[in-house]
Amino acid sequence: MKTAPKRILGIDTSCDDTGVGVVELLPGGHVRVLANRVWSQTVHAQYGGVMPELASREHVERIDQIMGDALADAGLKVSDLSAVAATSGPGLVGALLVGLMYGKGLAQALDVPFYAAHHLEGHIFAAASEAELHAPYLALVVSGGHTHLFDVPQEGEYVLVGATRDDAAGEAFDKIARLAGLGYPGGPAISEAAQRGNPDAVPFKEPLQGQKGFEFSFSGLKTAALLAHKAGATPEDLAAGFERAAVRTLVKTTVRAAQACGRETVVVSGGVAANRALREAFAQTGLRVVFPGKGLNTDNGAMIALAGAAAITAGRAPSTLDAGATAYAPLANTPAAS
Ligand code: KG4
Ligand code: ZN
Repeated sequence: MKTAPKRILGIDTSCDDTGVGVVELLPGGHVRVLANRVWSQTVHAQYGGVMPELASREHVERIDQIMGDALADAGLKVSDLSAVAATSGPGLVGALLVGLMYGKGLAQALDVPFYAAHHLEGHIFAAASEAELHAPYLALVVSGGHTHLFDVPQEGEYVLVGATRDDAAGEAFDKIARLAGLGYPGGPAISEAAQRGNPDAVPFKEPLQGQKGFEFSFSGLKTAALLAHKAGATPEDLAAGFERAAVRTLVKTTVRAAQACGRETVVVSGGVAANRALREAFAQTGLRVVFPGKGLNTDNGAMIALAGAAAITAGRAPSTLDAGATAYAPLANTPAAS
């Protein structure tokens, strides 16, 4: 087995994006993204949601090409790789299996270490592309499937301090965009339409105001959007009002959690972290807020390579080749103090 891995390939096929990225791990733990190729499947659009079996098949058809493109971007040959990481969960099991088996096979053929990566840990480490991440910090993962707030008191320890009670933040962006006829994915569409709307035109009540905990809820905003839509609100006004309320609840709750946990650094990652209004609002908080670099917010392979690099830096043992794919895989490994 080769030692001292330097170029790490990362694969994510957890849902409907085939992602392959390459990062370089420099001495001292510095990382550099060399390539990040994502094939976003379009086949699902006609069904209004992701069809798991179709997602698996598309991954099978695309993964070779996406890997070839990523290696070409990085200027590397497959034999230059020193480690392989692939998402093992959470996600669609059939889809996960494609990248996981591909990654394991590749690692075995090259005789390099293999790391099974957690999808949410990948989202968090996507921010390592922009700044060095050293625990302790707080991590807000906001995507189409997750709205989770983790305290990370030390490397590899994740305490869930809050999560959504209902819809994920990105899911709410997507559903309200669909309702308003703004298209898919909803996040960028809402963000764009919001710039032309009046955020005061539709009354959106900020969810869970006055709560002591750090939970999120987006179903009330969805209902408010539906009622306003039926009453004739414009898509732009809906977008502006919803985006402001969603951003406020995410930022306020995260800031309170950072204060409660005594953290000065906050990582904000996942697809919704691409949102401009959210980034601007976090910039006003006085906290050190780290976002993933361009193209690393939504699902991708480079974030998995970064999670692999972090595992190597932390001296974690490689995974065995019997690591399986899991649909449900909580990241928290330490219960929150009650
Ligand atoms: O991280 P991701 O690719 O997938 C999951 O792991 O779920 O996140 C996709 C989500 C979608 O719901 C999409 O609407 C949202 O991220 N998103 C955004 C923006 N760009 C993508 N939400 C708000 N503003 C954006 N600019
Ligand atoms: Zn994701």
